[in-house]
Amino acid sequence: MGRKMRRRVKGSPFRLAATPGVQPNRSLFSFSSAPGLPTLRILNVLETITRSAEFLARKGVDSPRLQVELMLAQVLQLPRLKLYLNFDRTLEAGQLDQLRTMVKRRGDREPLQHILGTSCFCGLEFAVNPSVLIPRPETETLAQRAGEHLKRLAQHGEGKRFPVADLGTGSGCLAVTIAAESPQADVTAIDVSAEALAVARANIDRHQLAGRVKIVQSDLFRSVPPERFDLVVSNPPYIPTNVLAELQPEVRDHDPRAALDGGADGLNFYRRLAAESPAYMGTDATLMAEFGDDQENAVTTIFREAGWREDRIVADLSSKPRIIVARCPVT
Ligand SMILES: C[S@@+](CC[C@H](N)C(=O)[O-])C[C@H]1O[C@@H](n2cnc3c(N)ncnc32)[C@H](O)[C@@H]1O
Repeated sequence: MGRKMRRRVKGSPFRLAATPGVQPNRSLFSFSSAPGLPTLRILNVLETITRSAEFLARKGVDSPRLQVELMLAQVLQLPRLKLYLNFDRTLEAGQLDQLRTMVKRRGDREPLQHILGTSCFCGLEFAVNPSVLIPRPETETLAQRAGEHLKRLAQHGEGKRFPVADLGTGSGCLAVTIAAESPQADVTAIDVSAEALAVARANIDRHQLAGRVKIVQSDLFRSVPPERFDLVVSNPPYIPTNVLAELQPEVRDHDPRAALDGGADGLNFYRRLAAESPAYMGTDATLMAEFGDDQENAVTTIFREAGWREDRIVADLSSKPRIIVARCPVT
């Protein structure tokens, strides 16, 4: 499983290797007395981007230019591509200062999303902070499959409402996307972390879905009022505990441990999902859960042995098995 995260170490967005050919300490981007702290003496957009990207490359940050452009776009309150029409624009001292602080944070391997305060998921913008997992592209496949499933249900039950549970909602990215895409769904967003639920609440409000997404603080279903859900989705913590230390700094030091740590073999949450969910699901209800690399067989076995009928395994956009779709045993 750890390979899912190790793959991220090698690939975007946080590759560890420096960009080849970058010359350190170019004249317009020197270092102040604070070690590693860049002093930007550049006055225009293009030079600022170039020198800041060189600094980030030396710090081992992947896609450094793109990352600088995104930070500078926020500072200047411009769409990123508009920077290209403003290369000669002179930056004010306050703007340079603001960018310099952001670039330093990124150079210290703080995730870009924490610096910007937002993350994009399925084309929607979500507030994020260190209390929640930064939504991952793999999880967009889960949101899409849930949307397709609810569409099929809606075709056979016109006017009917479909209760959906999102277990371990974090930022609320799945709950909000599902509610936004599926007008007949009423979503319960569940998390054990009050801090995570505060972020989920902000995102539910941001997308004006408070009428259809409610939040419940609960250890799995334990504090959820009795209800029979038609669909349960979950992206649980699934990293084996002993792999956590190997993750890249952006993940290891900045994503909440409760969002990552799946216990000794990474599978604790699946055992509980398989055992505890049926009491909250209707006849023939469906569960869709994300899992990590190399966990397909173990997760499938857990659900099969608990009496679930496996519908299928869905691959993510990199063609890796990523989601189990299973139908609830009769309770
Ligand atoms: C991997 S994160 C997923 C967050 C979000 N759904 C996403 O896909 O980006 C797992 C979430 O499960 C929550 N969690 C961990 N253990 C839990 C438990 N026993 N009951 C409910 N939520 C739990 C964590 O707080 C975290 O927010």
